[in-house]
Amino acid sequence: MEKLVITGGTPLKGEVTISGAKNAAVAILPATLLINGICRIENLPNISDVKLYCEILEKIGAKITWITKNEITIDTRDICCTKAPLDITRKFRASYYLIGSMLGRCKNVQVGLPGGCNLGARPIDQHIKGFEALGANVEVTQGNITASAKKLVGTSIYMDIVSVGATINVMLASVLAEGTTIIDNAAKEPHIVDVANFLNTMGADIRGAGTDVIKINGVKELKGGSTYSIVPDQIEAGTFMFAAMATKGDITIKNCITKHLESITAKVIEMGGTVEESGDTLRIKCTKRPNKANIKTLPYPGFPTDLQPQAGVVLSIADGTSTINESIWESRFQYTQELCKMGAKITAQGKSAFFEGVKSLSGAPVCSTDLRAGAALIIAGIAANGKTEVYNLEHIDRGYENIEEKFRSLGAKIERVSE
Ligand code: EPZ
Repeated sequence: MEKLVITGGTPLKGEVTISGAKNAAVAILPATLLINGICRIENLPNISDVKLYCEILEKIGAKITWITKNEITIDTRDICCTKAPLDITRKFRASYYLIGSMLGRCKNVQVGLPGGCNLGARPIDQHIKGFEALGANVEVTQGNITASAKKLVGTSIYMDIVSVGATINVMLASVLAEGTTIIDNAAKEPHIVDVANFLNTMGADIRGAGTDVIKINGVKELKGGSTYSIVPDQIEAGTFMFAAMATKGDITIKNCITKHLESITAKVIEMGGTVEESGDTLRIKCTKRPNKANIKTLPYPGFPTDLQPQAGVVLSIADGTSTINESIWESRFQYTQELCKMGAKITAQGKSAFFEGVKSLSGAPVCSTDLRAGAALIIAGIAANGKTEVYNLEHIDRGYENIEEKFRSLGAKIERVSE
């Protein structure tokens, strides 16, 4: 078993470069199944979710060549199987994108019901509603989902809930459908635009991604032959922004899209930080104890749920009492119990948590309960006095590339140790 051992108390200073977006990568990889050809993907984050996805794609007939650790070519001409490996697909949430892409390509698919971070109930009714509206028959039995169709025909689909996964999945299923599909009340996250841009580069006709109405004109074939570079990770950039705030640091974040970070920049300023923007670079500086602030998580362009725990660390040491309302997931405050082991005073009740800011945190052994909770605990460990040990690193490795090296390059005293 591995753990991170952190000796806290160092303000983070220096430059860090953001990797490609995890949540775009785990949608673009299955999207390659819609292509009858070879494509090249650059700026692919080197994380365990990506490696797992590549393993699944290889098992169903894709040929993947790693050019560098962040660049692959993928040949999807000989997809030979409609049954995705059930044991692996159960391991992570984003395997649900295989339903949309394989339904689109082969009109028939079976995957294991998706697992992933434990954030409370994670229904996929809106995905299923979309597939059925396009003409598929969908069955959920014994932990598996089977979907099949004689043909898929475009139609109008109104999403009852703004869902990232359902928006992308319906987009994947409709790219090769007959006629036009309209997704109304679509999610607008940067990775939705990125998946649409990828598919359009390969020959799809998708308009309106990034707004709440997406129109997909079905095409006969996606040919590939092109190169696509994945968008920088909005959540990784935000993680370093809150790390600067929690450690009274001065961090220059390179390779980010500052427009994607507006809701986060606004909170950083409210917390008393300064933000300097220049092209694709942001410099975050914090010279005093952070101010209290209230946060409500919302779909993009609102404050992202995936940065709620990292922001929570800053509020745990802020001057005054703050509230976070989590409106996306029903169980995303598990990290607060770990922060309390480090001296934080937080009361979580249902979808709200109240942070009575303490002057400082003290190091303690803590467990990462999910991906973003893990990132938050690393930030807490760097900000705290004394030694922190972070366990359950498999959650963190799913979504952050070289996280301890990146923090070390900013001056953090952090080591990965095998027990
Ligand atoms: C994506 O999950 C991300 N995962 C999550 O990232 C992120 O927290 C979430 O979007 C919200 O931004 C990936 O992209 C792989 P949703 P997803 O469908 O698509 C409800 C991370 O740390 N809902 O937008 O599964 C659902 O219960 C993570 O990187 C339905 O009711 O989220 C939730 O309350 C974890 N029915 C809300 O909608 C459905 O059919 C939003 O979920 C679908 C969703």
